[in-house]
Amino acid sequence: MTDSQNSSKIYRIAVLAGDGIGPEVMSEAVRVLDKVSADSDFSVSYDERLVGGAALDVTQVPLPPDTLAACEAADAILFGSVGGPKWESLPPDLQPERGALLPLRKHFGLFANLRPSVCFPSLTHASPVKQSAVEGGFNVLCVRELTGGLYFGTPKGIEIRDGEEVAIDTMVYSKSEIARIAHVAFTAAMGRGKKLTSIDKANVLQNGILWRRTVEEVAKDYPEVELKHLYVDNAAMQLIVRPKDFDVVLAENLFGDILSDEMAMIAGSLGMLASASLGAGKGDGLYFGMYEPSGGSAPDIAGQGIANPSAQILSVAMMLRYSFGEHAAADRIEGAVRKAIDEGFRTGDIFRGREAETKVGTVAFGDAVLERL
Ligand code: IPM
Ligand code: MG
Repeated sequence: MTDSQNSSKIYRIAVLAGDGIGPEVMSEAVRVLDKVSADSDFSVSYDERLVGGAALDVTQVPLPPDTLAACEAADAILFGSVGGPKWESLPPDLQPERGALLPLRKHFGLFANLRPSVCFPSLTHASPVKQSAVEGGFNVLCVRELTGGLYFGTPKGIEIRDGEEVAIDTMVYSKSEIARIAHVAFTAAMGRGKKLTSIDKANVLQNGILWRRTVEEVAKDYPEVELKHLYVDNAAMQLIVRPKDFDVVLAENLFGDILSDEMAMIAGSLGMLASASLGAGKGDGLYFGMYEPSGGSAPDIAGQGIANPSAQILSVAMMLRYSFGEHAAADRIEGAVRKAIDEGFRTGDIFRGREAETKVGTVAFGDAVLERL
């Protein structure tokens, strides 16, 4: 464990860099946090632990007990990414995603996943959709339910029925689970554009019926928020055609998983998007949370020093905001990333060979952010 600076407020952060590009982008995020905390009246301590494939290689399990204990002792978890081809053929429960990421979410009750999909005006040309649809940029917050639905419902498994294998996943949501994530989404909408689009499949799924009815009920507490409902298939289409019309998008676990990747790509790159996974609040507006890039471990580019560290750096900003209430420090980081982008610094994922663009690697992008803090 390493401590930085001396001051009264010390935030303890469990750092789980994981696999693939995780360690590379995490180093940049930690450098940025070091600099910001050095200039602030708080300090941070890091407890770095193994997780995912990196933990499997050393301890034969993806979430070792000491890693979980470090997370329990921490004020927040800063997570990189887990998984990769090396561990894909292990028994399912040992695989990094199922054996580490999902248990962490469940263990800490991190039911609210906030995924801000922000397309900077200076980066609209990196978006794969029609320029007219993204011109001027956009800012959509995806609020994804994270501890229910098909991911965790039981019964779950593969069994033999009538002599053949049958796979079973169960989509189950209680009314209280729907209501609490709806409150998160409405509260977020109140602090933004006051528009909420709730996603479901109420024309087919029982879950959709209860989801829609519950969201309608919760909406009564937020009369200022304009609520709309979209079926998930229609939403997937509308988000591509008119992303600028959306403000907050609320979805259950699997729909949110899919739509948040779609939104990330429409914004330009998965490498830009941070996320916060929050549990029940502590009552003071702050949350225990796990902060991670929305993209994955990107094994295809891991170890080459070319990954975009923005999502990891911006995850630090979300941590400062939601777990520590350090809004000024969070603003500084978000401002510096934006400035680096505005001034043309581009990792490969967002580089389009334009005149004003400078192609840089992971560390050089981190440098550019540090210089603009
Ligand atoms: C995500 C990821 C995870 C998920 C995987 C890695 C289990 O896709 O965080 O979006 O499906 O939740
Ligand atoms: Mg996903």
